[in-house]
Order: sequence, then structure tokens, then C-alpha cells
Amino acid sequence: MITQDTIQQIQSRIDIIDIVGTFVKLKKRGANFLGNCPFHHEKTPSFTVSPSKEIYKCFGCGKSGNAIGFLMEHEKYSYVEALRWLADKYNIEIEETETSPEFKALQLTSDSLYIINNFAKDFFINALMNTNEGNDIALSYLKERGFREDIIQKFQLGYNPGARDEFSKAALEGQYNKELLLKSGLVVNRDDKLSDNYRGRIIFPIHNQSGKVLGFGARIIKSNDKAPKYINTPENEIYVKSKILYGSYFARTAIDKVNECLLVEGYTDVVSLHQAGIENVVASGGTSLTIEQLRLIKKYTNNLTIIYDGDSAGIKAALRGLDLAVEESLNVKLVLIPNNEDPDSYVNKIGPAAFIDFINKEKKDFILFQLEIALKEAGNDTSKKSIIVNQIAETIAKINKAEEFTRRQDYIKQVSEILKIEENGFNALVNKIIRDKLTKEDLKSQRLEILVTIEDTSGQKDTDHLFNKDELHEQAMVRSLIEFGMKDWDENEKVAQHIFKQFDESDLHEMIDNKSLIKIINIYRQWFNEGIQPTEKNFLYMEDHEISHQVVKLMKVDMEISPNWKKHYEGHIPSREDLYKEEVASTLNYLQLRKIKKMLAENQMDLEKTADPKEQLIFIQTHQHLKKIEIELTKKLGTVIIK
Ligand code: GTP
Ligand code: MN
Repeated sequence: MITQDTIQQIQSRIDIIDIVGTFVKLKKRGANFLGNCPFHHEKTPSFTVSPSKEIYKCFGCGKSGNAIGFLMEHEKYSYVEALRWLADKYNIEIEETETSPEFKALQLTSDSLYIINNFAKDFFINALMNTNEGNDIALSYLKERGFREDIIQKFQLGYNPGARDEFSKAALEGQYNKELLLKSGLVVNRDDKLSDNYRGRIIFPIHNQSGKVLGFGARIIKSNDKAPKYINTPENEIYVKSKILYGSYFARTAIDKVNECLLVEGYTDVVSLHQAGIENVVASGGTSLTIEQLRLIKKYTNNLTIIYDGDSAGIKAALRGLDLAVEESLNVKLVLIPNNEDPDSYVNKIGPAAFIDFINKEKKDFILFQLEIALKEAGNDTSKKSIIVNQIAETIAKINKAEEFTRRQDYIKQVSEILKIEENGFNALVNKIIRDKLTKEDLKSQRLEILVTIEDTSGQKDTDHLFNKDELHEQAMVRSLIEFGMKDWDENEKVAQHIFKQFDESDLHEMIDNKSLIKIINIYRQWFNEGIQPTEKNFLYMEDHEISHQVVKLMKVDMEISPNWKKHYEGHIPSREDLYKEEVASTLNYLQLRKIKKMLAENQMDLEKTADPKEQLIFIQTHQHLKKIEIELTKKLGTVIIK
């Protein structure tokens, strides 16, 4: 672990303009700097860096963060890797704290495996390119399939010679540890001697996010009924199958640029598409997608397009596990390659331009595609159709985050049209599934928004829109706290004290869904009680990435007001600064109102569940009481808003 001292030293040296400027051309514009956003394609710059706030924000795509976050996002570094990069840049020596022996051992094994893999990769490249056997058997095969030499080099393809132990001998001569060699999967023990595991095979090195080789796929050259077509590295400290996406190291910039990730099945598909100039592509390795792989993709983009062979086994494999992708809020599209071709053979057959055309034309929304297939299978069977309705409702019910509300409604509309059923009825079905899934626990924590959209029995619709806006009010409250917390609320107390008075710790969990916001409030409270005066910067560089990220999201980079305008209205433009008390008051009222709404909804559910008249009476009385508070709060809010 890097010591706190070193981290502090690094933070004090950070110059965000210098750091972002390494990767993005920036121009000074007023107090800020402006450039073309590196995270999405744009012609007019909306990527803003504020040296005083030490953050960047893109007004086009919404990405934002501090300098460390920028390195993590742009270079895909981990937090520690970003710190190391900065330490290197500013010539700061890194001090590390003692780590536990177990951790050290693990670290040592991982490091050694990377070193062995690197040695092996070079050995295999040499065998492919510079030996007669490699040239005659493997390179000629690859060339026959149409792979160009520059692409073979880029992907560091290699060849493991056919003899029993050529690689093993070289590795032992190189003093590599036997146990670790076995662990790497490159060699196996046969009759008490090390033998090459991938003899006579083409080698596809598999790279991690920073380009280091964490394992291999080894393809047989002449098909053979007895031997498997591919052999892969066994699971070890660095090769964790569920987390691997072949090609991601080579694809990341392209995925960023076009904001879409193509997913294929095989290694050769990735290599071929690259050769065709289609670089935003990764492979899953032939198994159904894991949640870790989906999250990896989500780090780069929300748009996933799956390109699979048209054979039915492929489709079924593709569809399995895709509900997971919907839950991860990924936008999933599907393309099937026709006639027993795979992406590799198909792009070779029709050429890059036609291939891209084909993908764009054939791309189908995953959910609607699923529906289409099911409908085809069902034919005229009405009982099967009703099963389909329920199944598709289940899938759509997984789109249940507040910010996905519109997307969900779009699907409901489209699906009702395709199925020729009443939209309202289908909507109710989806909502029922969502509601059934909400346990009391969920209700308390996350999903009030959905509930509010289901049905409002009070008949009072006018304030509901306030509650669809997800976290905005929570965020506004925390922003007020961080920005104005140390200002006076009245003669007796600071704004922070006023806020804390209204929310004790248990209240917080009841009222605020976002965990990092709760953390921020609690840290603020703790610092405040210890006599520290917390500032934005204190939070900005906290090691807990979740917190610093959240704070960046809250901070506002002021847009420049035109100088003429300023002159004209000199002294008359009220800033948030001037109006801070009103801002704090209205934010608090919103949250109070929201709490009441939540209680009303829960009470309503309880009422629906009970058949006991006595209990019903209690719930009805509670309802009336809550209603009264709600009306008062709404009135107060009205006056604050009108002011
Ligand atoms: P080519 O046939 O050379 O074009 O390879 P491919 O990548 O197209 O292979 P295929 O479509 O048959 O399989 C897709 C992916 O599934 C491969 O890239 C491998 O990752 C994986 N795979 C295929 N066969 C095997 C196997 O026998 N064992 C293992 N472990 N994985 C396999
Ligand atoms: Mn293939």
C-alpha cells in the first residue's frame, strides 16, 4: 500500500491543466480551460477543466472527475496505477507500508506469472516468425487464412513447436521456477518430466487492460477428433476466466470513440475484424457472458452489440445471460451472421465496408429480438402467447432504475404494438412484477421512484414530477452542506448544524438512497464535530473513489458570463451564494416531503394487504395525518419556489 504521506504529497503537486493537457489540447477560456472531449466525439468543444476547482466536466457527455479520476477514465488505470503515474511525472518517491505476508506471496506469484507469460510470448513469436517449422506449419496456415503480418505482430500471435518439450527446456534454462511454470499452464508434468502443453499449436496471447499477457489460447492447426480445438490457460492468480474479454486491450480507444462495443465469440473473429479496420471488438471466448465481463464492458460504454453465428446453439448461448445485461442497464443489440459463417469468415467474404453496413442494418434490439423468436416458435398457439407476454414483461421489469423510466415506457409501447395487446394492461403487468419484487427492504432503500410512478391514490398529481428526478434533491442537499455548511444559518447556528438537526443518522438511511451521499454527510458530521472545517477539496481527493467521484458530480463549474452582460447588470445578478439560505431551506423541504411520500406509499401497501377492519382504520388515520403534513410542506415549498 502506498503511504498516506506519499498520497498527500502527490495530491499537493497535482496540476489538473498539466495532467489533462497531456492528453487533450486545451485553450484558456475565462477562468476555465476548454477542449474537445476525449470521451465522446465532438466538433465544438464542451470539455471544461477548472483549475480552481481542480475538476473537469464535459457538458456534452456529462463525464466529470478530478485529475486522478481523469487518468483512471482516460488511461483505464486503477487508483494505485494513477498515483504511480503521477508520482513518476512529479518525481515523487513512493513509500509503501508493510503488507501482510499472504498479500506479498500473492503479489509475488502474480508478478512471476506475468514474467513467465512474457517470456513464453516472446518464445512463441520467435518460433512462429524465425524458425522453419513455425514458418512452414503455422505462419503459412495463418497467411492462408488471410491474416496479414502486421496484424499477426500486433496481436503477438505465436507458435509452440511440435516437439515434446522445446518450450519447457528453454524455460528451465532460463531458470524459471518449475511450480510456477506448471501453474501458468504452459507446461504439464508427464512421466516426471516437464512437457509443453500447447505443442504444435498456434498461440493467441490474452492481454490485460494494460497490455500484459495474463494467459493464452492455443489453437490446433489440423483438426483432430481427439484433441480439443483450443486449450486455454487454467485458472490461476492472474487468469480468471470470468473476467477476461479477449481483445479489450486493443479495443479500448475505439470503443471510447464510437461509444459501442462489439462482442464476438472467437479469437480469430477479433483479429480478423481488426484487420478489417473494425477495432471496437472483444471476444467472450465462446461461453455465455458473465456479470464481470458485462461490468468490464460497461466501464467503456453502455452500448453492446453482440455478433454471433446464426446457428441456433449460438443464439441460445447469446440469449442466456443477457437479462443480466439488461439489469446492468446496458443497451444490448444483436446481429446474427448468416449461412454458417462467423464474423471472421464473413468479413473476409464480403469485405469491411459491406460488413459494417450489414451490422448497422441487421442490428436488432435484444429484447424485441427475443420477442420475435418466441413469437415465431409459438405460431398460433394462444396459451404459448400468454406465456410470452409474461416472459417479456419479466425482462422489461428488469429495466427498473429511475433514470431508465422513459426507456422502460418505450419498450412497453413497442412490445404492446408487436403483441397487439392493450398498452395500459401490459404496463400494469410490468409494474406489478416490479412491485412484487420490492421487498420492504428495497422500498426503504432504493426504489421509491418506481412506486410513485405506479399509481397515485391520492389523486394529487402536481408534485409527483418532483420525485421522478431520482437523486437530484439528495444531491442538492449534500451540495448545500459542502458549499454552505460553514456559513451562518442564524445567530445561533451554522448551516451544517441546521441540516444535522433535521436528519439524524437513522433518518439519513431512510431518506437518502445513494450510499456515497450518506457517507459524505457522515464524514462531514464527524469532521465538523472534531472542529475541522470541511471544504470541497477535502472531499475531492479522498481515497474512497466513490466519494471523490460523487463530490465531483455535485460541484458546479461556473460557465462564464459574458463581460458585457456583467457590466450591464453589475451587482444585480443574484448568485447561488446570495441565495444560500433559500436554497438550503427548499432542499430540506423537498426531502421532508419525499419522506412523507414514502411513508404514504408504504402505508398504502399495508392497507391493501390487511383485511382486518381495526387495522384498516389505523392505516386510514395514519394516511390522513400524513396527508396533512404533506399539504403543509407542499405549501411551504410553493412559497419558496415562487420567491
Ligand atoms: P477458428 O475456427 O480458427 O476461426 O476459431 P474460432 O475462434 O472461430 O473458434 P470457434 O468459433 O469454434 O469458437 C469460438 C471460441 O470458443 C474460440 O475462440 C475459443 O475461445 C472457444 N473454443 C472453441 N473451441 C474450444 C475448445 O475446444 N476448448 C476451449 N476451451 N475453448 C474453445
Ligand atoms: Mn472461426
